[in-house]
Amino acid sequence: MPNPAELATQAASGGPGGAGRVFAIANQKGGVGKTTTAINLGTAMASVGRKVLVIDLDPQGNASTGLGVDAANRSLSTHDLLTGQATIAAAAIPTAHVANLAIIPAKKELSGADRELLDEADGRHRLKAALAKAREHSSSGVGGFDYVLIDCPPSLNILTVNALVAADGVLVPLQCEFFALEGLSQLLNTIQRIRKNLNTSLGVQGVVLTMFDKRNKAYHGDVAEEAHQVLGDLVYKTIVPRAAKISEATSHGQPGLIYDRSNPGTIAYADLAIEVLARERDPVGA
Ligand SMILES: Nc1ncnc2c1ncn2[C@@H]1O[C@H](COP(=O)(O)OP(=O)(O)O)[C@@H](O)[C@H]1O
Ligand SMILES: [Mg+2]
Repeated sequence: MPNPAELATQAASGGPGGAGRVFAIANQKGGVGKTTTAINLGTAMASVGRKVLVIDLDPQGNASTGLGVDAANRSLSTHDLLTGQATIAAAAIPTAHVANLAIIPAKKELSGADRELLDEADGRHRLKAALAKAREHSSSGVGGFDYVLIDCPPSLNILTVNALVAADGVLVPLQCEFFALEGLSQLLNTIQRIRKNLNTSLGVQGVVLTMFDKRNKAYHGDVAEEAHQVLGDLVYKTIVPRAAKISEATSHGQPGLIYDRSNPGTIAYADLAIEVLARERDPVGA
């Protein structure tokens, strides 16, 4: 495994949102909390006044559904963005429940992107190009957004590579369970390779432990401890507990903050947002 500390994001953002920061929420394992983090962290950042865009890069479209965009209401999508048929400005739609939070939804056709993009010389740079264009055409941020959160699919395929090539930092959700750290070295190796060849400014913004279960405290505590030992300060202090309401909220097309603002999962994501924003001003190891 590469030395995690060396992969930390070094560049400070220079103010709230700065020139617009792009975070890929990535882990090739499914079911670790990527989408839940995109939805609830995005909501928490928006609720403290940041303008946030979630880009749904998973053909399953869970972030789109979870933010209340039904399949029938998805006109332009991330597939159009990657094929150059739509701009960020045209494809971003406001979410129903949260001011300052927009989403570019995913449609099933995105699953074909793997094949389509692999054949193109610039296939790994499509998302980066779309974001660069949005930056150019706006006076602040990325098309007016302070933060862009990219919800990656559970794979290190060309969609995730597009996210890592486009991102300033990677947010890694790590589920508190036995093999969590094993898969991580593969992700960190990929980040290291992309940093060498395709995106020299890429770094790990942080690792967030998710689905911590109190009833399993002894065991989950060990996993959390091991993560701290291996990853050091990259691990956020906030640990997201397992909270049924967070899952329930997503199934109702609402972020936790709207569905049940006092549940421990929602509160953890609010704390996490504060930590993520603070780390922007004061990066690990800088
Ligand atoms: N903190 C949590 N508490 C309870 N359930 C959670 C929590 N985080 C995620 N889940 C649930 O676990 C499942 C997987 O989470 P999800 O965010 O979709 O993972 P991924 O995007 O990595 O595949 C979903 O059903 C989600 O609602
Ligand atoms: Mg997901």
